[in-house]
Amino acid sequence: MDNGHMHPSFARVIAQKEHLKKKLSSIKHKIGVYSAKGGVGKTTTAVNIAYSLAKLGHSVGLLDADIDCPNVTMFLGMESAKLDSVQPMRPIVHQGVKVLSTAMVVDEMKMPMIWRGPIITKMVWELLANSEWGDLDYLVIDLPPGTSDSPLTIMQLLGLDGFVIVTTPQKISAVNSIRSGIMAKRLGAPILGVVENMSSGEISKHTKAVADELGTDVLGSVKRDDIFNSCSDSGKVAVLEDREAADAYLGIVQNLLG
Ligand SMILES: Nc1ncnc2c1ncn2[C@@H]1O[C@H](COP(=O)(O)OP(=O)(O)OP(=O)(O)O)[C@@H](O)[C@H]1O
Ligand SMILES: [Mg+2]
Repeated sequence: MDNGHMHPSFARVIAQKEHLKKKLSSIKHKIGVYSAKGGVGKTTTAVNIAYSLAKLGHSVGLLDADIDCPNVTMFLGMESAKLDSVQPMRPIVHQGVKVLSTAMVVDEMKMPMIWRGPIITKMVWELLANSEWGDLDYLVIDLPPGTSDSPLTIMQLLGLDGFVIVTTPQKISAVNSIRSGIMAKRLGAPILGVVENMSSGEISKHTKAVADELGTDVLGSVKRDDIFNSCSDSGKVAVLEDREAADAYLGIVQNLLG
């Protein structure tokens, strides 16, 4: 398109988009962790994948892109971590991972839960355009559930390299995961694989069906284990605390990188 004939208001929007793209170019890989279904373990997966990548020596960022319910800081015991009002917004380094969340910018408990499309778009835009990640090998993004405004906006703005889809062994979860995967593919982002969370041990046939349907692989499974509840309640990272969790996520991350 010839920007020379464009009204300045439109040209400004295009320029902002270019600015964002340039800004995010210091990040080698942007991986979204997603499922349309709530509560399947997206945040758990995003956090533990991020810390597993960091354990392997990569430089890693973790972006909490759940504007409505930003939970990452609680999972990391960082509720009191707030950004000062200086620009740009610098992620806070926590045990070797750069973390950024809207919960660091506003008081989570006072956050209006009724934000809709345009305002969410604006908030995500501001968060991304004003943050300074520096050079990163991986940015792991914890996405909100649903197939509506918030995840859509974030996917389109960030131009993700791909998605990890989280599912649980149940059929209902699989059906929703397929829905999530189809949506992500429609937006042009590849599916990097499927993680079965809250697994009983053996990968369920429903999880295998999700991978088949989306033309991808099951990266691995993580057992249903109280360690994840106790870790998220006490602000600890399971892969830094528990051998079995560390091994499960190491396998997932190795398959992801492979
Ligand atoms: N493998 C597991 N075993 C036992 N509990 C788990 C496991 N994975 C996650 N949980 C627990 O399940 C709850 C939901 O997990 P989490 O917040 O990661 O899900 P979510 O998909 O991000 O939810 P939301 O859709 O609300 O963002 C948390 O209390 C978490 O500790
Ligand atoms: Mg979550």
